[in-house]
Amino acid sequence: MKQSIIRSTGRYLPERVVTNNDLAQWMDTTDEWIQQRTGIQERRWVPEEGGVGASDLGLEATKIALDRAGWTPEDLDMIIFATLSPDIFFPGSGCLLQHKLGLKDTPALDIRQQCTGFLYGMMTADAYIKSGYANKVLFVGSEVHSTGLDRSTKGRDVTVIFGDGAGAICLEGTETSEKSGLLACSVHSQGKYADALMVEAPASRLNPRLDARMMEEGRHYPSMDGRNVFKLAITRLPQVSKVVLEQAGLGIDDIDLVIPHQANLRINQAFQQSMKIDEKKMFHNIQRYGNTTAGSIPIALDEAIEMGLIGKGSNVLFAALGAGLTWGAMIYQL
Ligand code: UT7
Repeated sequence: MKQSIIRSTGRYLPERVVTNNDLAQWMDTTDEWIQQRTGIQERRWVPEEGGVGASDLGLEATKIALDRAGWTPEDLDMIIFATLSPDIFFPGSGCLLQHKLGLKDTPALDIRQQCTGFLYGMMTADAYIKSGYANKVLFVGSEVHSTGLDRSTKGRDVTVIFGDGAGAICLEGTETSEKSGLLACSVHSQGKYADALMVEAPASRLNPRLDARMMEEGRHYPSMDGRNVFKLAITRLPQVSKVVLEQAGLGIDDIDLVIPHQANLRINQAFQQSMKIDEKKMFHNIQRYGNTTAGSIPIALDEAIEMGLIGKGSNVLFAALGAGLTWGAMIYQL
């Protein structure tokens, strides 16, 4: 049977490091508060002068992944690009990346599933591969949050958690009788929670889509009911992870590494305790990068592989929850 195999991964984080103390210059916050509530020590931001979008970070991560796979851009049958911070309102960043890779007419598809973008994107890639439509697929998760955050005290609950970054994955369809690739996946959405985490403007339902008054009110910045999202995360992540373990016929001890979305260290610690996951099997890098949304899991996967924590044959459990509300889990055998 055809399976989608991860051939390679890559990541790119902008060089500019923004510490908690840097943020405290602009808003009423402290390093102590941020570390205690989120685990974050620093994050990366694109240069202040602008000119760097999600497709640019995605391009750098892609170059590394393609190089490691031994592929050229022309080898790609399809690009799947997950982001909530597209370079422009439309067209999608996948098309912009396609052009930056020098490709003529390779199809590109954007995924708008926020922190769950990796799960939806990998599931989509797997389906295209298994259907025979595409055999070599590039998945990219990339975000530039920093240019869209409220740096005043009003935005402090949201602004301190987000960072910029991108991860890329080369997937290839391979005929094999062995159990490998995507073993189980379960994703969900619940639009009734849309306003628990959103950017309200610009929006097609507003006319004009954005004006000076809306900007004064900060409606173009993300707003979040953090406590509610936190509670939803700590209940739903274990629930959906149990579902995929059962689907795959595996127990938590059969999992070599758990890579959760990096939204808050406390969320992931609560998830770990609830699932009784050995501490050594939990991957965290939120301390250094903050929450890079669609970039977070592919960046973490790339780091975990580079650190030698996982390799061919490893079972990895991924889980994520974020705006939408969207959430889900996936077990992948590398
Ligand atoms: O990836 C997408 C999904 N998003 C998430 O998973 C985020 C989930 N939520 C969270 O991670 C947490 O809710 C936050 C980190 C956003 C906030 O932590 P919290 O422990 O839930 O704090 P809180 O919102 O309950 O606020 C506690 C206090 C408030 O002050 P009062 O009302 O008690 O006086 C806030 O105004 O902390 C205040 N506060 C801050 N203080 C210093 C909020 N943000 C800050 C800040 N610095 N940055």
